[in-house]
Amino acid sequence: MIGRLNHVAIVVPDLGAASAVYRDTLGATISAPAALPEHGVTTVFVELDNTKIELLEPLGDGSPIAGFLERNPAGGMHHVCYEVDDIIAARDRLAGEGARVLGDGEPRTGAHGKPVLFLHPKDFCGTLVELEQV
Ligand code: CO
Repeated sequence: MIGRLNHVAIVVPDLGAASAVYRDTLGATISAPAALPEHGVTTVFVELDNTKIELLEPLGDGSPIAGFLERNPAGGMHHVCYEVDDIIAARDRLAGEGARVLGDGEPRTGAHGKPVLFLHPKDFCGTLVELEQV
């Protein structure tokens, strides 16, 4: 059911510093920062040949990644995003298998303007999973 790895997301305390690590130390191509107030994050995408790395910094009060950063002050891997062809079909199949879909279970528009859902880490080997319809 899942297709390509769309991105791996890393939460960071300082997006400028993290961007410099990827751009200058690792020599990667990175995007300009994009503020997504409706998601409570600012993002930078690192473009790799076969996938992307999404750097996430909290934005505003009540950011959904603020708690993660409190538990991991240096930052850390936050989620993996897999592509699916039909997010509603994927959700219904996973719910039928007993997997927990986070939030109200309805897809939201993600950082790439496409429908996304998040799946409970306890059901997926301790890793938060994002599904993105492509
Ligand atoms: Co993501």
